Parts: sequence; C-alpha cells; structure tokens
Amino acid sequence: MLKFLLNRNIVVYTGVICIVTIFSFCKYALTETEKSSKAKSPAVTYSNPYFKGTKEERITQVEKITRLFGVKCDYCHNEDLTAFTEEGEISKKMMAASVALGVDCDYCHVDGKRYTEKENQAKKMFELSETMATECDFCHAGKDQLTPKGEQAKTAFLTRDWATKGTKQCLECHIEKKQFALNFYGWQVLNAMKGLKGM
Ligand code: HEC
Ligand code: HEC
Ligand code: HEC
Ligand code: HEC
Repeated sequence: MLKFLLNRNIVVYTGVICIVTIFSFCKYALTETEKSSKAKSPAVTYSNPYFKGTKEERITQVEKITRLFGVKCDYCHNEDLTAFTEEGEISKKMMAASVALGVDCDYCHVDGKRYTEKENQAKKMFELSETMATECDFCHAGKDQLTPKGEQAKTAFLTRDWATKGTKQCLECHIEKKQFALNFYGWQVLNAMKGLKGM
C-alpha cells in the first residue's frame, strides 16, 4: 500500500514538472518570436485606413501631406513610426476624419497655418464630437454621405438652429459623452412622440 502511494506521488510529481517545463518553454518560444518579428519589420504598420494603394502610392500620400504643411517628416513622427509628436497624434485623428468625410487634408488646410472656408464648420464638428464622444463616422459615411444617425442629426441641426446656438442645447435630452444616448427627459420626449404616432 505504502509503495503504491509512493509510486503515485512520483507520477504526480513528474506530471507537474513536465507541465511546468512545457509552460516555461512555450513562454520562452513566444517571447523569442515576438522579438524576432519586431526585429524584422521596423514597426511600420501600413494599417491606417487613410492610406490606400501600393507602397509607392502611400509614400506619395505622405509626401503630399508634408508639402501641404511645409514641414519635414519629423514634424509628426520618427522614421520607424514608433514615436509620434503631438502634431502626429492629431494627424491620426485628422486621418480618421478625412476617411469619414471622403476628403483629403487640403479640404480644410491651405497650408500649415491657413484653413479653407470649411474651418468654422469643421471646428464646430470637432467640438460636437468631443462633447458627445462620437467619431466623425458616427454621422459621415464618405463624401456627401450621411449615416442614418447623421440624417437624424441633420434634422436636429436644422430644427434647433445648431449653427448659431451650438451643441450645449443637445444635452437637454442627450447624455454628455454617451454618443447621443437619451437622458430621462429625452426618454419622456421619445415616449410622447410614440404616443402621438399611436405606437
Ligand atoms: C502631418 C503629419 C505627418 C507628416 C508631416 C508625415 N507623416 Fe507619416 N504618418 C503620419 C500619421 C498620422 C501616420 C499614420 C500612423 C498610424 O495610424 O499609426 C503616418 C504614417 C506613415 C507611414 C505608414 C503608411 C501606411 O501605409 O500605413 C509612412 C511610411 C510614413 N508615415 C512616412 C512618412 C514620411 C517618409 C514622411 C515625410 C516625407 C512623413 N511620413 C510625414 C503623419 C505624418
Ligand atoms: C474637415 C476638415 C479637416 C480635415 C479634412 C483635416 N483637418 Fe487638420 N485640422 C482641422 C481643424 C479645424 C484644425 C484645428 C483644430 C482646432 O484648433 O481645434 C486642424 C488641426 C490640425 C493639426 C494641428 C495644427 C496645429 O496648428 O497644431 C494638424 C497637425 C492637422 N490638422 C493635420 C491634418 C492632416 C494631416 C490632415 C489630413 C490627413 C487633416 N489635418 C485633415 C480641420 C481638418
Ligand atoms: C452627430 C452627427 C455628426 C458628427 C458626429 C459629425 N458630423 Fe459633420 N456633419 C453632420 C451633418 C448632419 C452635416 C450637414 C450635412 C448636410 O448639410 O448635408 C455635417 C457637415 C459637416 C461638414 C460640412 C459639409 C461638408 O461636407 O463639407 C464638415 C466639414 C463636417 N461635417 C466635418 C465633420 C468632422 C471633421 C467630424 C468629426 C470630428 C464630424 N463632421 C462629425 C453630422 C455630424
Ligand atoms: C427635446 C429633446 C431633444 C433634443 C434637445 C435633441 N434631441 Fe436628438 N433625439 C431626441 C430623441 C427623442 C431621439 C430618439 C428619436 C428616435 O429614436 O426616433 C433623438 C435622437 C437623436 C439622434 C440619433 C441617435 C441614435 O443613436 O440613434 C441624433 C444623432 C440626435 N438625436 C442628435 C441631436 C442633436 C445634434 C441635437 C442638438 C442639436 C439633439 N439631438 C437635440 C431628442 C432630442
């Protein structure tokens, strides 16, 4: 009986040791692959949806931005894209905005200092998006295209004279930073609307 228990213990111990060895080997192997994949490609992602086409076409795009702003590449980031300046971080958001609107930087920027006539509207849109914690693509679906939520916003803009009265008034019914979720009063308004429609 004692001998049997001893044997069993040895089996259990050996099992545990095997598992531990396998685990630590896997961990070692994983960190090694991580290291080597980092070494191969210098962190260039080619994943921002703003960039389209072949590698050459992408380079043409970054050169176009650089010329437009009259700067050097290091205005926004280092060579292997591991570090971004403040302007570079802003530019990432600007790229998302450009994709949502289906336009390029020169739609709003004349150069590093001056803006096109879109400046004011764009600034209001950035402010609205900040207040409501939405991205531009919440409402914009490419050039001159709105999402269904964008269409609802368009109606609200018009009926509430948003262009002059601004975004604060939207918070009468919508919760700040919650992507237009309704507050208690907003729900009352919605229910009243449904009541009128006989729903
Ligand atoms: C105004 C800012 C700005 C300037 C100037 C700029 N870049 Fe960039 N660049 C960016 C941003 C933002 C990204 C996207 C990074 C991301 O989304 O992670 C990017 C991405 C890239 C990429 C990756 C492209 C892809 O397909 O994903 C390359 C390569 C690049 N830049 C090279 C350059 C070179 C070379 C220059 C100078 C000729 C330059 N950039 C100038 C802001 C800039
Ligand atoms: C829809 C209009 C619009 C588009 C498109 C746009 N921008 Fe902007 N951008 C603005 C506005 C407006 C500001 C100023 C924001 C503010 O001051 O609140 C700005 C600010 C910036 C800044 C900061 C400037 C500074 O003086 O600090 C950078 C950098 C920038 N944009 C880069 C870009 C790049 C790169 C693109 C194209 C990928 C782009 N923008 C596309 C409207 C736009
Ligand atoms: C809550 C919805 C909503 C969000 C979020 C939003 N927009 Fe808009 N935007 C609209 C509507 C609606 C119009 C008016 C379109 C029309 O009149 O046909 C508009 C118009 C514009 C215009 C002027 C029209 C044009 O095509 O030039 C610009 C520029 C613009 N938006 C930029 C932005 C940017 C940049 C962002 C993100 C920072 C953004 N918008 C986020 C709803 C939105
Ligand atoms: C008096 C209350 C009230 C005010 C003020 C108001 N809204 Fe709304 N909004 C609603 C109601 C109610 C709904 C839901 C309607 C529905 O689902 O049919 C709604 C829905 C929306 C939606 C769609 C949201 C989604 O997720 O489907 C957007 C976008 C929107 N409003 C934008 C605005 C903007 C922009 C303003 C400010 C200019 C504004 N609203 C002011 C009551 C209001």
